[in-house]
Amino acid sequence: MSNPPIPPATPTTSLLSLDALFDNPVFAGGFGLAGLGAAAALARRGAIQGASLIKRRLLIDLEIGKQDPSYPMLLAWLTLPRPPGGFLASKLTRIHHMSMNTSSRASNDGPGHTSFLAQPGYGRHIIRHKNAYIAVNRMKGASSNMNTGEPFETITLTTLYAHRHIFGDIFKQAHELALTAQEGKTIIYTTKAFDWSQFGEARRKRPLESVILDSGIKERIVADVQDFLGRQQWYVDRGIPYRRGYLLYGPPGSGKSSFIQALAGELDFGLAIINLSERGFTDDKLAMLLTKLPARTILLLEDADAAFRNRRQVDSEGYSGGSVTFSGLLNALDGVAAGEERIAFLTTNHIDRLDEALIRPGRVDMTVRIGEATRYQAAAMWDRFYGDIDLDGNGRQRFLDKLEELDLVAGEQSDEKARLNTSTAAIQGLFLFNKDNMDGAIAMAEGLIPRIYESEKQEGLKVPA
Ligand SMILES: Nc1ncnc2c1ncn2[C@@H]1O[C@H](COP(=O)(O)OP(=O)(O)OP(=O)(O)O)[C@@H](O)[C@H]1O
Ligand SMILES: [Mg+2]
Repeated sequence: MSNPPIPPATPTTSLLSLDALFDNPVFAGGFGLAGLGAAAALARRGAIQGASLIKRRLLIDLEIGKQDPSYPMLLAWLTLPRPPGGFLASKLTRIHHMSMNTSSRASNDGPGHTSFLAQPGYGRHIIRHKNAYIAVNRMKGASSNMNTGEPFETITLTTLYAHRHIFGDIFKQAHELALTAQEGKTIIYTTKAFDWSQFGEARRKRPLESVILDSGIKERIVADVQDFLGRQQWYVDRGIPYRRGYLLYGPPGSGKSSFIQALAGELDFGLAIINLSERGFTDDKLAMLLTKLPARTILLLEDADAAFRNRRQVDSEGYSGGSVTFSGLLNALDGVAAGEERIAFLTTNHIDRLDEALIRPGRVDMTVRIGEATRYQAAAMWDRFYGDIDLDGNGRQRFLDKLEELDLVAGEQSDEKARLNTSTAAIQGLFLFNKDNMDGAIAMAEGLIPRIYESEKQEGLKVPA
């Protein structure tokens, strides 16, 4: 019996064991998987880099922040219904996150009107505008505006580079939309910390005819403002700042604020209101606000005498105790930081408290007294309220006679003033109380006598002139 042949010794034991390893299905599978994984990771990196390259080459972004005036316009535009397009397009462009914007206002045709506007909420949406798909990303920032405490917010629009012209079109539409929404309205701005903010919704314009000032006054102011608005080049050519200031003074309720609001409407301007008697309103704040007055607005500084009351409150270090001072007001009106273009109206009930320095041209160019109701105004207001039922003017005559009898207005031919006075606001109040009832208004005319004189009248005492 011979021994079985010994197999030749293998020169590469290690290789053999590797082969064996690869023959092992568990090991080979694992290695294969790892290889696949690495390849996939590589491919993904490539894809991401490729995508970002493509994105950079092919896409275009546009970012706008909340503080930009176009922001609310764009948001309103995004809520417009759009034609649905095809099946896929309509599924793709459905907005799934909404946020609510509710506003209420009084209306003519009912007790009030509340509008609910569902806006695209935070997050990503896709919209289609004229064949272009646009990704919309509305984001709330982590930090907030130091002045107003509101968080920063941005909207980013992304579309194909080839469709970049669509942005111009979108913003044009959004602006037009905002303009039509504000047609026939006056936007009122008030101050919010160190900034201007729109006060409620734009209000319906107050017709200029609805404010009744004494004969010729309204026309004189309107003509002056219109002349100013037509003369910009004249000012530029002469190197004069393009500014004009008006001071309206007179008793409460004579229509000063109402007239200025109506004038803003007439000129298609907004109205930016600062109440100088507001506590905590400092010189710095006033100066800051005037440098960023919204475009096409009339600046209205109510209660200008407040600054004069405070003129002596400045201590040796110049601290004014948290209110506007006289010098603060003068600087705001024509100091270096006063801003180039501006129409400003100041109002006050106390002209005697004002200072000559204010009425220097460049600060206040025109001063007008808006006084107690005159016979002319009482007649015109009567016509506005009862013109349609008092066709022969008999009621108006009786009303005016009664006012004359009460010595609230002067006689028709008389050069003398009436001894008592009443305000146009009081006459309006009387008419509002007696809607469609002229006899009621005439019977209640005694109510127009200012309260301070009433007791004396009852006692039959002579009322002071
Ligand atoms: N001349 C006027 N013509 C029409 N309405 C008037 C007139 N004067 C007052 N009114 C009415 O009276 C109310 C108060 O008027 P307004 O606020 O304009 O007075 P004002 O002169 O600004 O008073 P104040 O000095 O207290 O600020 C308003 O509702 C306004 O419509
Ligand atoms: Mg007023």
